[in-house]
Amino acid sequence: MKKITIAIDGHSSCGKSTMAKDLARELGYIYIDSGAMYRAVTLYSLRKGFFTPEGIDTQSLQADMPNIHISFRLNPESQRPMTYLNGENVEEAIRTMEVSSRVSPIAALGFVREALVKQQQEMGKAKGIVMDGRDIGTVVFPDAELKIFVTASAEIRARRRYEELKAKGQEAPYEEILANVKERDYIDQNREVSPLRKADDAILLDNSEMSIPEQKQWLMEKYQAVVHG
Ligand code: DC
Repeated sequence: MKKITIAIDGHSSCGKSTMAKDLARELGYIYIDSGAMYRAVTLYSLRKGFFTPEGIDTQSLQADMPNIHISFRLNPESQRPMTYLNGENVEEAIRTMEVSSRVSPIAALGFVREALVKQQQEMGKAKGIVMDGRDIGTVVFPDAELKIFVTASAEIRARRRYEELKAKGQEAPYEEILANVKERDYIDQNREVSPLRKADDAILLDNSEMSIPEQKQWLMEKYQAVVHG
């Protein structure tokens, strides 16, 4: 069967990664969570003290970009992809509220995007890849055979993230999460470099009222339609 490139973009916390991961597993494709890469750069910047009261020390971050190596490895037990930053498993460390609340300004930096997009395009060269993010269908893989743009209401997304954090023992107030979701939407959609937008040829999916199995089936149908015409 011919291998294709699948780009899944959309708002934060709308279940993109769950969908993308499941589809990749089912098809035997590589799954790349591009948001994890922006999060890893954010974690690196926090650890290095690049967030200062005057703003982000972009000069130091830019100088350090060649020293930031991000990779993904499958956890042999869970078969889930884990994010590594310079050889360290940072999968949990990049999902904290601290990183979530700092990642948007990092993802708005042109030199950060340029470096990460290049790596993402390299990862997708052989096709057979599902990548999720914000600019996958518009910038990273404009020629992807299947492009999906996922959204859901801010309240539903905040509720999902709340449950997700709670399950991990990192409970945070719902109102704070909702404010974070809305703020990230605003920054993601209004930044100058590669703002979040639906590619003209992407299929829109509003999953506010959909269950995970329903989404899975919907996505599989779209995939089948592309490969079997
Ligand atoms: O999908 P996520 O919530 O893990 O993404 C974290 C942040 O990274 C989010 O604020 C948007 C940004 N991002 C981006 O700008 N481009 C991507 N391709 C993926 C994520």
